Amino acid sequence: MKIIRTKDYGEMSRRAAGILAAQVILKPDSVLGLATGSTPEGLYRELAEMYERGELDFSDIHTVNLDEYRGISTDNDQSYRFFMQKHLFSKVNIRPECTFVPNGEEADAEKACAAHEAVIKKLGGIDIQLLGIGNNGHIGFNEPGTEFVNETHCVALTESTIAANARFFASVSEVPKEAYTMGIGTIMRAKKILLVANGEQKAEALYRTCCGPVTPEVPASVLQLHPNVTVVADEAALSKMV
Ligand code: PGA
Repeated sequence: MKIIRTKDYGEMSRRAAGILAAQVILKPDSVLGLATGSTPEGLYRELAEMYERGELDFSDIHTVNLDEYRGISTDNDQSYRFFMQKHLFSKVNIRPECTFVPNGEEADAEKACAAHEAVIKKLGGIDIQLLGIGNNGHIGFNEPGTEFVNETHCVALTESTIAANARFFASVSEVPKEAYTMGIGTIMRAKKILLVANGEQKAEALYRTCCGPVTPEVPASVLQLHPNVTVVADEAALSKMV
């Protein structure tokens, strides 16, 4: 596991965007595994700016997203499809038909999850998977206690995740209670992993991810077993590591 320490969120975003940009330049037909959340917003901004400057071409890129709320429409501004459109897809020359987010509008969970997993397999797997990390160590919506072998599946969100997401909704009662998420098994099959984290509220989870025992209680700790992981995090998020 390689850890890149940055002084703040801006530097974290630039460094992480640089890694994704290098992937796009070196392998223009890459399959990028993408993530939503407040952490990657800055790096998507950086990628959009690089595209604007003519430094990146997304015309042969495919993307697959980690997760999506179940029972949310794509035009709901809290859906992860909406987030991706807003922060990246509408800003670069990626072909819409090459972007895949689990289908939150599909009520049949098995069907939605199998379809997402099938897309990843058909594309030949994920070249690099971007991840944020939850305060409780979750990756995607793989909450503590998750099984490491899981593929894309439907999960009930924990109270702590619902509470953390409530800031994006009018009230906590409006936060969806279920989501479709790539499983740990899906994530671990990505050739490379890029995990981004900032802020002191992530420090404990990041410490347990990198330095604690590998345990389903801290889902991100499984990344210690992956051969190619880069963590880009600011000083605050790494404050428990020294
Ligand atoms: P955040 O979420 O980037 O909004 O902090 C990360 C996550 O929960 O995976």
